[in-house]
Amino acid sequence: MTAAKQPPKKLFIKTYGCQMNVYDSERMVEALGGVGYEEVKTPDEADMILLNTCHIREKAAEKVYSELGRFKHLKAENPGLKIGVAGCVAQAEGAEIIARQPMVDLVVGPQSYHRLPELEAKAGQGAKALDTDFPEEDKFEHLAKRPKAMRGPTAFLTVQEGCDKFCAFCVVPYTRGAEVSRPADRILGEARDLVERGVKEITLLGQNVNAYHGHEQGLAGLIWALDKIDGLERIRFTTSHPNDMDDALIEAHGECDKLMPYLHLPVQAGSDKILKRMNRSHTAESYIRLIERIRAARPDILMSGDFIVGFPEETEEDFQATLDLIEEVRYGYAYSFKYSARPGTPAAERQDVPADVADDRLQRLQALLTRQQRETQDAMVGREVTVLFEKSGRLPGQMVGKSEYLHAVHVPGEGIAKGDLRRVSITESGANSLGGVPL
Ligand code: 5AD
Ligand code: SF4
Repeated sequence: MTAAKQPPKKLFIKTYGCQMNVYDSERMVEALGGVGYEEVKTPDEADMILLNTCHIREKAAEKVYSELGRFKHLKAENPGLKIGVAGCVAQAEGAEIIARQPMVDLVVGPQSYHRLPELEAKAGQGAKALDTDFPEEDKFEHLAKRPKAMRGPTAFLTVQEGCDKFCAFCVVPYTRGAEVSRPADRILGEARDLVERGVKEITLLGQNVNAYHGHEQGLAGLIWALDKIDGLERIRFTTSHPNDMDDALIEAHGECDKLMPYLHLPVQAGSDKILKRMNRSHTAESYIRLIERIRAARPDILMSGDFIVGFPEETEEDFQATLDLIEEVRYGYAYSFKYSARPGTPAAERQDVPADVADDRLQRLQALLTRQQRETQDAMVGREVTVLFEKSGRLPGQMVGKSEYLHAVHVPGEGIAKGDLRRVSITESGANSLGGVPL
């Protein structure tokens, strides 16, 4: 007699924060797929709820506790429901999470996801399961292989984790640990597998992706190796540190057709005094000279950045230096944040800028960045771009995809399928996207 097949158990996973968490969540779904779980879209029907959390800015842990509170009634209705916290809050808070919220069954840090099936089994026996180690083994190698199902045309692929830079405001070196690179052959294998399943564009991820050293020629070497994969049409990478933009990578931006003309290169601030206090180990001037070299290699590259306002001891003059740097660089895209003190980081010990001053600076900074973003987008009208189509648009018959510069572009979609790459003439620039006609 054969045993009856178990119906799949249902996993609801909610992802916060960066793209690396998006990638990790996909891999966790796959790892738990190996022990009978399938992903569902709402927590109500789940047998297991996982929150993949982010700790980069303030109140992250508080948000997690209040989100957990919302699941209380589900646990009351279904005592078999397992609740887990993953990601950087899990790493930072550890057992404290279970102490404060006893309905949590499982706490797992970002380096231990390959152990999820064991942790799930332990939680299933009614025990609390906690793993926030930084194990020797490679979590990616031990994660279950991605199943062979077809998928959308774009994918993330984590190549590097952790950070050794220790910017004075940042928790990443503590929550994600030291820089570790995955070996190039494994990444190439995973990339080939993704391409077989319909992926045309891969974004290589790392907290400090351009410090990648799993290939003897660094990130540029990995990009050139990926360039040889037939069917892979586009390569992107994020996030980079200015000090790791080596000559080979700059050259790749000029010479590798598959490497897209978009670069996220955070500078954080424009005042050398603040950059020094942030422990960034570069100056505003060296950053601007670097961008000149990148633009000499690839004149049309669209620059993106991250900025922090209200870092301790930032004066109006320091802030003005940030605005000046932005005026000089001209960003096509940017993320900006009010400084938030993170316990355990060196800057947390220092005197904060008053909240109303920081709020005012953030507004002024965002007004400038929004204007630049708008101007960059509007300047695309009348140009031709290549669009990788990803999905249907809001209007009937419309298709939407991304240009090489990462602008969303919508077109009348007749004859266009998901995954098609088409030349498009841009005819209009809307609030958050471009419109055009396929050529
Ligand atoms: N406060 C505000 N912003 C921060 N970032 C990182 N840590 C902090 C902090 N403590 C921002 C930086 C970084 C981005 C991912 O988040 O700009 O580049
Ligand atoms: Fe954090 Fe990025 Fe600085 Fe590393 S380089 S410490 S991840 S802000």
